[in-house]
Amino acid sequence: MTQKVGQGWDVHRIAAGRPLILGGITVPCEFGLHGHSDADVLSHAITDAILGAIAAGDIGMHFPDTDARWKGCGSLQFLRHACDLAARAGYRILNVDSTVILERPKLKDYRLAMRESLAKTMGLDAGAVSVKFKTAEGVGPVGEGRSAEAQAVVLIAPLSGLAEQI
Ligand code: C5P
Ligand code: MG
Repeated sequence: MTQKVGQGWDVHRIAAGRPLILGGITVPCEFGLHGHSDADVLSHAITDAILGAIAAGDIGMHFPDTDARWKGCGSLQFLRHACDLAARAGYRILNVDSTVILERPKLKDYRLAMRESLAKTMGLDAGAVSVKFKTAEGVGPVGEGRSAEAQAVVLIAPLSGLAEQI
């Protein structure tokens, strides 16, 4: 067994009257994201990155949006489930890097809260969880304020790992 990398991406439409939840943190805003769950696009991208690293399908396979159980539910539970699957497969997460692409509002004041929320959910130190923010410079659906995207990569290693690599 060796280290593995996983990649995740997600997009949600912007919707008036919905909460804007990113990494489990509610950001004060007059709009939010449309979705079956709480539409936490950042948690979804990280969840898919973990599932990708262990080749365990994708978030829609584990939590179909046709299933009433997941309606309005908090996406940190999807993330926790992906971490549990990784542990069951014999892996631990080394680090996560992620980017949220959203034209507005400014998110940087919420970075630490998001990192801590995600890290707590994944059983990691906040130092192992990076969250970055970008606008789309006014271009395309994100730039026009119609959607939000998130991207993530994770690195995982065997639970018993270090001894094997030395
Ligand atoms: O996209 P751009 O390079 O113009 O972003 C400049 C900075 O603004 C980034 O470093 C990022 O931290 C911050 N930002 C933010 N919230 C956003 C988009 C960008 O805080 N929604
Ligand atoms: Mg999603």
